[in-house]
Amino acid sequence: TSAARPVVLIAEKLAPSVVDALGSGVEIRHVDGTDRPALLAAVAEADALLVRSATQVDAEVLAATTRLKVVARAGVGLDNVEVPAATARGVMVVNAPTSNIVSAAEHAVALLLAAARQIPAADATLRAHTWKRSSFNGVEISGKTIGVVGLGKIGQLFAQRIAAFGTTLIAYDPYVSAARAAQLGIELVTLDELLRRADAFTVHLPKTPETKGLIGAEQLAMTKKGVIVVNAARGGLIDEQALADALASGQVGAAGIDVYASEPSTDSPLFAQPNAVVTPHLGASTTEAQDRAGTDVARSVLLALAGDFVPDA
Ligand code: MLT
Repeated sequence: TSAARPVVLIAEKLAPSVVDALGSGVEIRHVDGTDRPALLAAVAEADALLVRSATQVDAEVLAATTRLKVVARAGVGLDNVEVPAATARGVMVVNAPTSNIVSAAEHAVALLLAAARQIPAADATLRAHTWKRSSFNGVEISGKTIGVVGLGKIGQLFAQRIAAFGTTLIAYDPYVSAARAAQLGIELVTLDELLRRADAFTVHLPKTPETKGLIGAEQLAMTKKGVIVVNAARGGLIDEQALADALASGQVGAAGIDVYASEPSTDSPLFAQPNAVVTPHLGASTTEAQDRAGTDVARSVLLALAGDFVPDA
């Protein structure tokens, strides 16, 4: 009977590709994952839970489940899923680890270029029916030393792309060998050296207890005056108040920021800084990345519901 169809609970807006890829063998239900009481009620009947980054899948949510087999994250970062709590209940956690890496790298490049030329601020002057051509003076990326903090998949894609601008690349990543970095044309350095040498730097790290607050006031004080800072990874890797202070003092010349310590964010101190270019966590928000995330997690969910081993993407 149809009562046997497993229930897949979709808790956030996902690409239509997810529904197509899940097919008719499952019953799809929707809930707003940020509506806590609704989520707690709905997960009780779910066999699979699909989220993006806004739904907190913590111990309380997991405790409200009765037959959940899999939590699927339609994206990369798992910082909104309490993986140990899921594992303890025998719930599998899957993600789409390569779905949006190109989109994230491209967004970091876009933020760097937009910050270097103050594109949003200049755009705003025209929309205000003023012509302030002489108020804006940017810097070139060509010839500059660009630091990549975190040389994983996204950091490497960023590095490849920004290399085309004629840059010198340095990176900090304790998990990457100097030989591998050299193959990529990147010099591996300590974080301190990166901060001292970079004309601009970008972070591409997961948010963990070790990486949270990695770049604070002390680190920003070590940089070249006027450095450009980019974060399209996770809020809180760079201390938001410290960065806002450094932008205000001119120690940091400009910043391109996509992510915030707490999201949704409507009152970050960065929003008051004219030399900050800010976007609301859009790194993965492209048609291509969301399509891939949808199909990738759907595939993993179907495998998990069938009791099959889920391979790493
Ligand atoms: C991710 O970790 O994949 C990104 O934050 C994008 C998203 O939340 O969809």
